[in-house]
Amino acid sequence: MAINVDSAVSEIGSYTGKIVTIERFILDQQRSYPDATGTLTNILYDIALAAKIIASKTTRAGLADILGSAGKENVQGEVVQKLDEYADQIIFKLNDHTGRLAVMASEEHEGIIPIPAHFPLGSYVLLYDPLDGSSNIDVNVSIGTIFAIYKRKTEGGRGTLEDCLQKGRDLIAAGYVIYGSSTMLVYSTGQGVHGFTLDPTIGEFFLSHPNIRIPATPKFYSVNQGYEQFWSEGVKRYTEWLQGKDKTAKPLSLRYIGSLVADFHRNLLSGGVYYYPADSKDPTQTTGKLRLVYECAPMAFLAEQAGGAATTGTERILDMQPTALHQRVPIFVGNIPLVTKAKEFIREFD
Ligand code: AHG
Ligand code: MN
Ligand code: MN
Repeated sequence: MAINVDSAVSEIGSYTGKIVTIERFILDQQRSYPDATGTLTNILYDIALAAKIIASKTTRAGLADILGSAGKENVQGEVVQKLDEYADQIIFKLNDHTGRLAVMASEEHEGIIPIPAHFPLGSYVLLYDPLDGSSNIDVNVSIGTIFAIYKRKTEGGRGTLEDCLQKGRDLIAAGYVIYGSSTMLVYSTGQGVHGFTLDPTIGEFFLSHPNIRIPATPKFYSVNQGYEQFWSEGVKRYTEWLQGKDKTAKPLSLRYIGSLVADFHRNLLSGGVYYYPADSKDPTQTTGKLRLVYECAPMAFLAEQAGGAATTGTERILDMQPTALHQRVPIFVGNIPLVTKAKEFIREFD
């Protein structure tokens, strides 16, 4: 029986009629930089590999205790780890020895993660949220991984905290992996945003969403509205505006998952705004919940690359100089007119 190649191609996902793996796409992009050494290409490729390993683990998450029944040990005799620790270790272990990085930092560690002394050093810096939305794991809801890559600022020796605390506008690359009904890797190196879908049967990411642009007509607003009573007047009024209560705009639907990656991904593809404002529910946390370097800056970079915007309400996220690794900031990210409107309400009422 003849194989219908066209339908096979469209099933896998084609880009201008070609089957494009993530490896080939990254290599093709690298060619537009004549001075590129291939180092960034390899870091991205290692992140894609980490994504596959984490995806295979997360899809078996509920089985961990069953398979590791002998007192929390799995069949290889290793201790069964919590998934966010596992994801953290996978990303670290794939990147610690390659000679491409000067330093790493992870949401799971208080301080920077130095490259072990016996491994060579490189000129890049990798920051990551190994498992975002991890409170959703136990209830089988989408989770993700977020990554941010910079060039080191310091010269020579091992990378330092200063290398990790850079403005988002200096990002070399950023992206996320979403472990959803399918696993996707979405990233940008400053040449648009591109999405790849994992074919789990062969373990390969294929280009499925080239050059993602936020749709001009937004559909959703996304916020934890359960905390409304703790919001500022500006944020409350902004939310009413999104709901169309003043009749100047059409109401948007509310969607909120509670995994930044999943909420961001949906709004990137469907249009809308995601926000986690400052609130007063915890008096020690008046700056919002999400972390600048691990969550807000990489998502802001992707949003801008896709034709959107991201602000704290008063300042462009990508212009913020981080002062600490785990610094939290308010964020409003999505379609430009919706983000602009948030700034207007905050300026007028807060
Ligand atoms: P993490 O799992 O990496 O700690 O991040 C959780 C974050 C983010 O993913 C999500 O958008 C937010 O927490 C949800 O917070 P609320 O439950 O307060 O809405
Ligand atoms: Mn997170
Ligand atoms: Mn996390």
